[in-house]
Amino acid sequence: MNAIEIRNLTKSFGEKQALRGLDMTVPVGAIYGFIGENGSGKSTTEKIVCGLIHPSGGTVKLFGRDYTDADVRAKVGVLIEAPGCFPNMSVWNNLMLQAANLDISDAEEEVRKVLKLVRMEGAASNKFKNCSLGMKQRIGIAMALLGNPTLLVLDEPINGLDADGMRIMREVLVDVTRNYGCTVVVSSHILGELEKVATHYGIVRGGKMIKEMTAAELEAGCRTYVALSTKDIGKTKAALGCKYSRVEEDEKGYLRVYDAESPEEIVTYLYEKGILVREIKTDKIGLEEYYIDLMNEKEGK
Ligand SMILES: Nc1ncnc2c1ncn2[C@@H]1O[C@H](COP(=O)(O)OP(=O)(O)OP(=O)(O)O)[C@@H](O)[C@H]1O
Ligand SMILES: [Mg+2]
Repeated sequence: MNAIEIRNLTKSFGEKQALRGLDMTVPVGAIYGFIGENGSGKSTTEKIVCGLIHPSGGTVKLFGRDYTDADVRAKVGVLIEAPGCFPNMSVWNNLMLQAANLDISDAEEEVRKVLKLVRMEGAASNKFKNCSLGMKQRIGIAMALLGNPTLLVLDEPINGLDADGMRIMREVLVDVTRNYGCTVVVSSHILGELEKVATHYGIVRGGKMIKEMTAAELEAGCRTYVALSTKDIGKTKAALGCKYSRVEEDEKGYLRVYDAESPEEIVTYLYEKGILVREIKTDKIGLEEYYIDLMNEKEGK
């Protein structure tokens, strides 16, 4: 069963066509990393899934039922932009208020449970306005988790978080899917971070889904390369360029060779040219590079 099944979704804001026939499939239990450049249609798609705006056309099914179905709507938790909290109220009271809005009967127990899930038990009495950005984002998730949702839609929840904030967020996302039975859609531009938790990916461009894949498919589809360093990178690059078709210097100053048979082959070749290899290893490109390659391909670069 799929948590989300979107077919041919369109959305126009006046003249602006934000979505142009977008398809999306999110299996139950997934942490679905939703990726795309600014303005590609991620937030618009998420807002439609959450019932915050209406589509112009297409179908949206949640757990096999139309997304407007009231029972299914009640199962969607959402954090888009900042959480709607009262700054002068405590974290606890903000959550209790939301629980009352949702008519949750065992509110105290439920609030305690979601606070624990987002690692905020110790900060329940803090005023919302005094919480750090990372805490505020987690409070937003706690809000979204009230009412036992089975689908959680989070729009850029890790933006602006420090390393520790991101690590906690990662733990929370894994926890809510594994132990709480939630399917999570999470949009982000921080691909290296997303890659650590996502089980599935969807890449949008210009209001269309251009690629959907599982983490295993990404892993299998990512090309391997040999990375090496020498004393004279410029000379080495020139030498390697005579034999290999794609040689690039990465941001750490290593040369990457994408079409070599083995590291040994490169070491031997360079030795014959009088160049000694200082360091060498085989690696795979990650999500970030995969994404950049895909975008360049689409642009015909
Ligand atoms: N309320 C609106 N009125 C007019 N245009 C809108 C509105 N909301 C979104 N758009 C436009 O629709 C397109 C898609 O926007 P959307 O916010 O979905 O992109 P996004 O992928 O979330 O981008 P980002 O990565 O910057 O958050 C953009 O061109 C945006 O300007
Ligand atoms: Mg957005």
